[in-house]
Amino acid sequence: MKTKIAVAKGDGIGPEIMDAVIRIFEAADVQLEYEFVEMGKSYFDAGHSTGMTAKAKETIENLGILFKGPMETPKGKGVKSINVTARKVWNTYANQRDFRTLNGVETVFSKAGIQINLTIVRENIEDTYGGIEHMMTNDVAVGRRLITRPGSAQVIRYAFEMARRKGYKKVACGHKANIMKLTDGLFLETFNEIAKEYPDLQAYDIIVDDLCMKLVSHPEMFQVIVLPNLQGDIVSDLCAGLVGGLGFAPSANIGDNISIFEAVHGTAPDIAGRNIANPTALLLSGISMLRYLGFTANAASIENALLYTLEKGVHTGDFGDRSTKSANTTEFAEEVIANLGKHPSVGGAFSQPNFECKTNTDHKPEKNKMTVTQPDIKEEILGIDVFVEYAGQPGELAEICKTKLNDKLKLVMISNRGTQVWPTGSVYTELIDQYRIRFEQANEGGLTQRDVLGLATELSDVVKIASTEMLMKFGDKLGYSLAQGQ
Ligand code: NAI
Repeated sequence: MKTKIAVAKGDGIGPEIMDAVIRIFEAADVQLEYEFVEMGKSYFDAGHSTGMTAKAKETIENLGILFKGPMETPKGKGVKSINVTARKVWNTYANQRDFRTLNGVETVFSKAGIQINLTIVRENIEDTYGGIEHMMTNDVAVGRRLITRPGSAQVIRYAFEMARRKGYKKVACGHKANIMKLTDGLFLETFNEIAKEYPDLQAYDIIVDDLCMKLVSHPEMFQVIVLPNLQGDIVSDLCAGLVGGLGFAPSANIGDNISIFEAVHGTAPDIAGRNIANPTALLLSGISMLRYLGFTANAASIENALLYTLEKGVHTGDFGDRSTKSANTTEFAEEVIANLGKHPSVGGAFSQPNFECKTNTDHKPEKNKMTVTQPDIKEEILGIDVFVEYAGQPGELAEICKTKLNDKLKLVMISNRGTQVWPTGSVYTELIDQYRIRFEQANEGGLTQRDVLGLATELSDVVKIASTEMLMKFGDKLGYSLAQGQ
């Protein structure tokens, strides 16, 4: 019996490269049945706000797997990327991108004889990709960056499991916890906790800027790197550059119920409709999908045919020897088909499975899953940060605040763009028209929501409130950061 998968051809070069890949799958006699779904820019334009029809959503949710071409995000306010929405709505929490040296794809590293074989696991749901953004004043935009303990644990555990499966020996956590002590700090703390469950793997952390420098100078040092969403996005494109560019970068978005396989690159509007796009990245993504679905032998045979084709110097216009004629998309696919059954002289298909095989089709949950890691932890309210729009000097703002203080709360600090400007500060600190005013409890004993929000309400009579944030303590840990200079 054939395995059914949902396929969305996508926009731009999407249909050309998807047709090429499916032709290769069919030639290799992969026992797949394709359900083509309506998803992409034209469905946005036709009024489907999520970029897909209800039928497409149902099909993908029933089959649990989507093989997709790139999709264009219509420009303009209020329209979210269909790619990001799909990953978030279906909780494909781990974005796995495998990068390795491909014989025939010349790079500075291949010329130097340096072999790259590394996997980036990017958190795929949280971070700035929540897209929770507001204008606080006409001059100040703010984005909320959510990093959660369950979300971090899910992707980090995935990275360790995948490392074991692939026979890697070490897992790195890329982060910026030296600056973002609570958000990246939580990601790193979770990494260190989970690492204890995998004593057979070497776990270490690396600050993301240092990571980038080392990746471009010594990429062979790395095996698996797990990162928060935005940093993972940037670092994985950097890694695509290390192995020859976007044309060679596959991507898998893995969730517990639904997974999406796609290329890293976009719709390439500059070359769309000309049958010259490179189908390799989508083919590599498809090969990963075959392994995920349990078609291990097919995956190996197609991967070997592709590696053989590349090794022989067959290339599309975006890479390879410019003095030899480029193959177009169709010709490239035909070459791979003709080379089925052949093996490259160097390297070869992955011997270890890069994905856990998921053949279980019973993936429909009955209700939304909710995870709270420590439901009994003691919580205390210690104060409130009130963000206000104000274009005067810090000392003047402090005097205004003092008129509204009560015996439960004291004024502790005022900052501007995160730098303390009251009670002490520097006259050289330039200001914008938005301050954060920190109030903490005047006496031990804790505060209620009514205490702190009551003060904010009182303040709203004398200054414009932009937003508020509770100052919390969870267990014995403070739940807020100090201002620069505090
Ligand atoms: P892009 O990846 O489409 O193109 C960047 C450059 O790489 C272009 O010069 C293009 O010709 C080239 N390129 C990309 N894929 C290629 C291939 N397979 N063969 C040969 N050359 C290739 O990025 P861009 O231009 O920033 O985005 C275009 C559209 O794609 C946008 O609407 C964007 O939102 C969307 N996009 C969709 C993604 C997805 O569906 N996962 C991912 C990235 C972008």
